[in-house]
Amino acid sequence: MNHFKTSTNSIRHFLRSPSSIFNPTSSLKVTPLGRAVHPLFIRRSMASAMAKRLEGKTIVVTGASSGIGKSTAKEFARTSPKNLKLILTARRIDTLKQVAAEIKEEVGDGVQVLPVKLDVSNPEEIKNFVPSLPEEFKEIDVLVNNAGLVKGVAQAPEIASEDINIMFNTNVTGLINMTQAILPIFKKRSEGGRGDIINIGSIAGREPYAGGSIYCATKAAVRSFTDSLRKELLATRIRIIEIDPGQVETEFSVVRFYGDKSKADAVYKGVEPLTGDDIAEVVVFAAGRRENVVIADTLIFPSHQGGAGAMHRKS
Ligand SMILES: NC(=O)c1ccc[n+]([C@@H]2O[C@H](COP(=O)([O-])OP(=O)(O)OC[C@H]3O[C@@H](n4cnc5c(N)ncnc54)[C@H](OP(=O)(O)O)[C@@H]3O)[C@@H](O)[C@H]2O)c1
Repeated sequence: MNHFKTSTNSIRHFLRSPSSIFNPTSSLKVTPLGRAVHPLFIRRSMASAMAKRLEGKTIVVTGASSGIGKSTAKEFARTSPKNLKLILTARRIDTLKQVAAEIKEEVGDGVQVLPVKLDVSNPEEIKNFVPSLPEEFKEIDVLVNNAGLVKGVAQAPEIASEDINIMFNTNVTGLINMTQAILPIFKKRSEGGRGDIINIGSIAGREPYAGGSIYCATKAAVRSFTDSLRKELLATRIRIIEIDPGQVETEFSVVRFYGDKSKADAVYKGVEPLTGDDIAEVVVFAAGRRENVVIADTLIFPSHQGGAGAMHRKS
């Protein structure tokens, strides 16, 4: 019966889509049962199963004012536009409000968006985060621990202690404190608890490189924390997920070079980096799996990349 409902919805979507009717170049695909169907039909059937699983959820994204976090917020909204609550956090509240307005404009009122100013490197702010949420946003189902940054390319013994502290306090302590703030909500649920924690790590956490010792150490710490947590929660339905991007073009390098855009642009010269949307699709895919499926660990590169420093550059 459910299957029938999904199919009719998909057909309705398919027929509503102008490109499915008027695009003469689109080719039909053959299903395993031998039926010829339009590719959009397949895509929308998958999307509706995922949309259903995400429906009604409350999702927190840290670092949602830019890059991967902003894309993740939008991708959740696009995937499940009928009934979703998004809590978007970062230090730049005006930018978060802008993201919220863009989401509303794109998907309408089915997605409620709450922008919240939150500096994850400040333990007091994290302590007040859940208690100060409006009642209807308190039942969090998914936490995307995305806020993070790199500062500089200095090598020991020349690394500024301010940079060391900012990277550890944000990438490690901030992520751990957010996790500790949200886990009690998950643990109150049946079967020992349910909910998703999705940590954004990095290739840097697997493969340390010169000029990135502190950033690499923070992401290795994220990896250890994530793996321990998954093992600690095995008797529950709480899913602990790590997604490790390779090179993604966001504000990341601008922040690394203290606002120097020309130095940041040089990082991407001759290569084709991933976009925030590429990572966002994987985050939403992981959250949208059947409850018994855990996408525990994922490494995502653009096609020119094979490691932290292994890049093919066009001259
Ligand atoms: N770009 C890459 O190549 C790459 C590769 C691997 C992993 N990553 C990881 O991906 C994550 C997202 O980075 P991105 O590439 O999307 O960079 P980005 O465009 O600079 O975005 C970083 C986000 O983190 C937020 N943030 C930074 N410090 C914060 C703090 N103390 N409290 C709250 N929010 C804070 C920023 O918001 P505010 O400034 O408004 O606070 C911003 O929204 C990071 O964890 C990063 O380490 C990136």
